[in-house]
Amino acid sequence: MGKVKRATSLVMYWSGDQIVVDHYLEGRTFCLDLEAVRVLAALSDWTDEAELHTLFPGYTAESVRESVNTLKELGLVVTDETGYYDALVDAAWKHWGQEARYFHFVTKDAPYVTGQEEAAFLEELAAEAPPPTMKRYADAPRLYLPRAFLPMNAPFQEVLLERRTTRTFKQSPIPLRAFSTLLFYAFSPMYFVDAGLLGSLMMKTSASAGARHETEFYVGVLNVESVPRGLYHYCQENHSLELLNPEYSPEKAVRFAYDQEWVGETAFIVYVSARFERMMWKYRHSRAYRAILSNLGQFGQTFSLCATALGLAPFVTAALREHELEESLGLDGITESTMYMLACGVPTAPAGPQLHEEVNAVQFVSENFVQMYPAPASASARREGNSNAAD
Ligand SMILES: Cc1cc2nc3c(=O)[nH]c(=O)nc-3n(C[C@H](O)[C@H](O)[C@H](O)COP(=O)(O)O)c2cc1C
Repeated sequence: MGKVKRATSLVMYWSGDQIVVDHYLEGRTFCLDLEAVRVLAALSDWTDEAELHTLFPGYTAESVRESVNTLKELGLVVTDETGYYDALVDAAWKHWGQEARYFHFVTKDAPYVTGQEEAAFLEELAAEAPPPTMKRYADAPRLYLPRAFLPMNAPFQEVLLERRTTRTFKQSPIPLRAFSTLLFYAFSPMYFVDAGLLGSLMMKTSASAGARHETEFYVGVLNVESVPRGLYHYCQENHSLELLNPEYSPEKAVRFAYDQEWVGETAFIVYVSARFERMMWKYRHSRAYRAILSNLGQFGQTFSLCATALGLAPFVTAALREHELEESLGLDGITESTMYMLACGVPTAPAGPQLHEEVNAVQFVSENFVQMYPAPASASARREGNSNAAD
């Protein structure tokens, strides 16, 4: 007889009046009775199978052994031999708690609906009206932004090269037309398509899973030509700003971004939120949350490239004090929650010359880096046998 313990990759919760355990590593779900929960609770550490009954006074050794054997068969209790992958998760994900592990594993390999199944699924979807595609604050004071957009003619390769995260900004306002151009090309729909049962979909410069475009954009204006300071909602429908809260300042911007001082020197900040129902209406599996995160990244890159093409300096972060921010924006944080922050300022110097200096400079990589990415065995053997520095 060996030792046993409770598997680590388990999450328990209530479903109606049942206790459910997800063995997320194995993708299996079980309903448990209270006795089974008690046995699992007692097996946090490796325990000798011969001594199991001492943990449960009042129960016969035989009945305890039977319960543990059943839990072993289900994989909820592991042995030295069966617990290899469970231990590997624990070691490999040691700095992240159950939340990240659970979400990652439980949303792997979700079923993808295609063909006939898809047609039936679409009919089913149509039974429930789709949520509105865009949000509008009809009663808010509205600023229509100019549509005299600036050209973004910088060579694409230069724009790719010159995009850099910027943390020092010149304290001068962003020209209104540059601001308007950036918001329009990064966040507005470029055109619409009729997607039948799925309704009318927005096509933007960023990809979005299923073109669901669950994101909304809130703009914190600090230093933009002729736009008063304040927190606005960007109305995608008519390229306007809807004033939600005039109480906005560099101090607040810094506070919302977890005290990153340079955020107070940017000219404006875009807080990106997700309205979950837009995604959930079509994608009815938690895996779609992964797609929301990917969608946010698309907008971050489009925003940064457009800002660079306009000669502006971008910055993005996911470090947000969401509760405080959502309170200032009047969001409940449940149906819609802030997820990402994109900021922009006037660069202290044009990116070009300094960037080209950096691109032209080669440098020796540290030993550490080499150890992280070891050369293939044949290459390192060759290096060891050859003292030529040029090799
Ligand atoms: C999702 C995400 C979050 C980030 N959060 C921060 C942040 O909180 N503070 C910061 O100074 N930089 C932040 N950055 C910027 C990265 O540090 C930066 O992209 C990285 O150093 C590479 O530099 P580059 O953007 O110039 O290529 C973030 C970038 C991304 C994509």
